[in-house]
Amino acid sequence: MRFTVAIDGPAAAGKGTISRAIAARFGFQHLDTGLLYRAVGRRVLDGAPALIAASTLRHRDIARDDLRTQAVAEAASQVAAIPEVRAALVEFQRDFARAEGGAVLDGRDIGTVICPGADAKLFVTASAEVRARRRFDELGGEASGTDYETVLAEVRARDARDMGRADAPLVAAEDAVVIDTSDLSIEAAVERAVEAVLAASAQPRNT
Ligand code: CDP
Ligand code: CDP
Repeated sequence: MRFTVAIDGPAAAGKGTISRAIAARFGFQHLDTGLLYRAVGRRVLDGAPALIAASTLRHRDIARDDLRTQAVAEAASQVAAIPEVRAALVEFQRDFARAEGGAVLDGRDIGTVICPGADAKLFVTASAEVRARRRFDELGGEASGTDYETVLAEVRARDARDMGRADAPLVAAEDAVVIDTSDLSIEAAVERAVEAVLAASAQPRNT
């Protein structure tokens, strides 16, 4: 059985949380594609040329535990605007999407570019203020050494870059189900996502 779920949306909207829940519920494999761009961004911060970092990316690079910082997120969104970097990462993602037993991929361009024929597409979003608050809390709140306003500015800058780039900009696919999690608990957001996947599975498409 092959079934692909594409989940896109801006930073800290809840894509990962929903993706993991969908994967667990339906027994699908999950790929957080942001980790690919983060791993390339990490290697660029270490001095590697972006295209070399992207074309030699290995599975173990995306398992590194130093990919979650704001500096790496920023570097990721800069390398993600380079068309050759994106092209070098396409095959890895499409191979994953074809996994026997079903796959969930989350990112920015899964439903539009990587898997336009995905069986189910979700666009998960929330206001920039809510997302910045979540990211600030994840970083450790006041104890993190940063402040909410700084995180909000970073979230907005990354949104602008991800939505404004020419190649694979962040945009909802026309056939995506939009879930705004600004006022939703995690449980309620997951429930909506599960419903959307079940509804899509009642009308399978050819991928
Ligand atoms: O993957 P993405 O960056 O879109 O977001 P995430 O890592 O799934 O979620 C970011 C943070 O928001 C996490 O700490 C989640 O627990 C939290 N969250 C939330 O408070 N309410 C939701 N409906 C979804 C996520
Ligand atoms: O966790 P968060 O949502 O903050 O970011 P992420 O999903 O780890 O993605 C980091 C950066 O990688 C994004 O800001 C995008 O610029 C880029 N990215 C992308 O261009 N396309 C994807 N499919 C996934 C991530």
